[in-house]
Amino acid sequence: MTISFPSTQNIAQLRARLLDWFALNQRDLPWRRTSDPYAIWVSEIMLQQTRVAAVMDRYLQFMEHFPDVQALARAEESEVLALWSGLGYYRRARMLHQAARVVVSSMDGKMPTSCRELRLLPGVGAYTGAAIASIAHGELAAVVDGNVERVVCRLRGWEADKSSALRRRVETAAGALLDPAYPGNFNQAMMELGAMVCLPRSPLCEQCPLLADCSTRGEHKTQPRAPMVRKDVAYALVLRQAPKQKSEREVLLEQRAATETVMPGLWQLPQLRRPAVPKAKLLLTVSHAIMQVNYNVMIRESEVRELADLAVENGERRWFLLAEAEAIALTGLARKVLHRVGLLAGRRSVRR
Ligand code: ADE
Repeated sequence: MTISFPSTQNIAQLRARLLDWFALNQRDLPWRRTSDPYAIWVSEIMLQQTRVAAVMDRYLQFMEHFPDVQALARAEESEVLALWSGLGYYRRARMLHQAARVVVSSMDGKMPTSCRELRLLPGVGAYTGAAIASIAHGELAAVVDGNVERVVCRLRGWEADKSSALRRRVETAAGALLDPAYPGNFNQAMMELGAMVCLPRSPLCEQCPLLADCSTRGEHKTQPRAPMVRKDVAYALVLRQAPKQKSEREVLLEQRAATETVMPGLWQLPQLRRPAVPKAKLLLTVSHAIMQVNYNVMIRESEVRELADLAVENGERRWFLLAEAEAIALTGLARKVLHRVGLLAGRRSVRR
């Protein structure tokens, strides 16, 4: 059965149903307990391409270290990257940091308030600009992220594709639906509905507040995901007694080149040329997914004298006390491995 998209009268009811559902069902998230535009900005940058569950801890720690735009602008880039460790897409952290410096040096420390001006900041595009302006300042700007696009396509019965024509149609439809009285809450409700109910594969239509408005009611197909690629990689874990503090141990790390497209400048365990690790030397295997690649990661217990033969020459290598390693900009994988083998307790303090 095809149901026509809401008429003008029905749009008011649709908005009310969605906002009521959001009021009752929204997740209690730290950035929803504040009206501070800086805090909302940080959350929206972290939430780009990253799920809420992965953002939570990092967000709280980031805000503890950099409670306002001035604190972020004063920080060294390495500190900002250290606190971003594990979130991926490190370019976001660099741009957020640069943007904070622009706000402090050229805008008297005051963040822009309109979507148009926010978009002039590094790292703020149409979607993030609309999210910040609507949530923090009540601007009538519709957010269209992947979740919202799916909700709108299903409501209207549009087949999902990657065309810019569909994108424009979705933006127009999302703008027409947006509640002028509560644009921030409405945008968040649409995103929340896409994340919690209108799921890509098995939508929970029986829980949906917009069931009566929906053209497809779960019949709608989303585009299949690109299949994950599997890849074997290996890294060396090399430890030594610290030369100056005999009771402490140090780990050898290498810094990825600044020119790398992925995770430039971050510290990792030395990467090995051949992924096959002899059984006797295999310390640990971990799975690690980055975008469409599922890495099967082997960690080889190595000695420093072997490394010239085994390791890919990747960048500067340095010994770090384990307590220091905790606080530098490690890749998410290095942090995971050091944590698994009990060398890092978790993230506590970050070096200033
Ligand atoms: N995804 C990105 N920003 C969001 C927000 N403010 N609420 C829910 N999901 C989001």
